[in-house]
Formats: sequence, structure tokens, C-alpha cells
Amino acid sequence: MTARRGGRTVLDGVDLVVPGGTTLAVVGRSGAGKSLLASLAGRLADPDAGEVLLDGVPLRELPHDGLRRAVGYAFARPALLGDTVEQAIGLGLASPSPDRIREAARTALADDFVRRLPDGYDTAVADAPRSGGESQRLGLARAFAHGGRLLILDDALSSLDTVTERHITDALLGDGPAGTRLLVAHRSATAACADAVAWLDAGRVRAVGRHEELWRLAEYRAVFGEGAEPAPAGAGSGAEA
Ligand SMILES: Nc1ncnc2c1ncn2[C@@H]1O[C@H](COP(=O)(O)OP(=O)(O)O)[C@@H](O)[C@H]1O
Ligand SMILES: [Mg+2]
Repeated sequence: MTARRGGRTVLDGVDLVVPGGTTLAVVGRSGAGKSLLASLAGRLADPDAGEVLLDGVPLRELPHDGLRRAVGYAFARPALLGDTVEQAIGLGLASPSPDRIREAARTALADDFVRRLPDGYDTAVADAPRSGGESQRLGLARAFAHGGRLLILDDALSSLDTVTERHITDALLGDGPAGTRLLVAHRSATAACADAVAWLDAGRVRAVGRHEELWRLAEYRAVFGEGAEPAPAGAGSGAEA
């Protein structure tokens, strides 16, 4: 598919298949088109040419509420809507049960700090003091509580320290419910958790493969900042073949 923005082609001939129940990480330099790809995947926008299918059905053919039930999102800077923290996490759920909300918050490592708020889960969103990382964790909790078939995380772990990010990706990709996930990732450790990585470069898919395979390429390593992180376990010496 192809998508244009501001008079130029931002995504060009992108053709990706994410098998149901698997996680695809999307990596690439800033401006490569990752966020636009994520928004097309959940139909926050439509491509200018081509189609996005979810379980074989074009997204354009899904009714609005069916689409919203199917797709959960988390963003780098989530807009938290709702009066209380509990409502903010349960946003969009038909009948958000307290158990489901707390379980999602635990998976997002948000439960501890929410319980320390003056009124816990009943604290007004506006009164909840939040760092960037705490906001992200509430946004993640909302996405996890959603529980749709497709979960899209667009830089949604970017303000977390590496240990917290690791705990969350382990919980998410471990034995959690096996939805399909699109994970726009900045850190090599996160990309390494995915079943496959799509490497976007200036709006085109440069390569699709496992992180440890792509890691052999110096240009791929450069996406993550050369030398910034050690090679993942199982990767080669780092020399380009
Ligand atoms: N609404 C828009 N109008 C003009 N240009 C846009 C718009 N949205 C995105 N772009 C451009 O498209 C490119 C890809 O953007 P984006 O998908 O946000 O990249 P990434 O998430 O990989 O950093 C960038 O060059 C960006 O400036
Ligand atoms: Mg982006």
C-alpha cells in the first residue's frame, strides 16, 4: 500500500503480512513512516492506494464499533480521558470490570503507583500526578484492558526505563492472551522480543526478518544508535557479512 502526506509519498509500496497471534516489531529511523504505518493498521487513517486487511477482511468494510472493539492502541503520549483513573483505563470497554482494569494495570506496571494515589483508582485523572513514564503505563494499561484482536503500540514504551520496559514486554509477549501485535520499537531489546521485525527506511520496507538476523547488518544496527546497546543473545560478532 501507499500513503501520501503533505504532497509526498510517505509510505511507498509497503506490503506486510502479520500472521494472527504473532508480534511484528516496526523499526526505523525517525520519519521513516512507522507512526503512519501504525495508524493505517488500525484505521486511524486510510492508505491512498492498497488495502489493510484484518483476518482477511478489509478494514474499510468493518463497521466503526466492530473496528474499535478489534483494535487497541497505546501511544507515546496517551491522551487519558475519563473522570477517574479507573475510567481512563477502562475507556472504550462496554462493561469494564474492576478486576480486568487492575489486571491490565498490573501488566503495565501501573498498579503500584495508582494504588499510592490519594484515592487510588478513584483518583481524578486531572489530580493524578504523572511522570511521562507513568502516563505511558496508564496508556498501556488501557490498551491491555481493551483486549482486542490487534494491539498497536506506537512508541508506547519510549519513556520507560529499560528494566520496566523489559518487564512489560515479557508480560505482554509471554503467556498473555495471544492477540496480534504491532509494536513500533526504538530499542533493540524490544525488537528482539518480536516474532519478526519490519525495518522501514524512508517509507519503504527495507527488510523483514528476525531481529538477530537483521542485526548482522551494520545499517540495521545503526537504526538503534551504533554501539548504544550490546548485541542481543544469539547475534553474531556484529561484523557485517
Ligand atoms: N500529516 C502530515 N503532514 C505532512 N507530513 C506528514 C504528516 N504525517 C507524517 N508526515 C511525514 O511523514 C513522515 C513519516 O512520519 P511518521 O510516520 O510520523 O514517522 P516515524 O513514526 O517513523 O518517525 C515524516 O517525514 C513526517 O514528517
Ligand atoms: Mg512515530
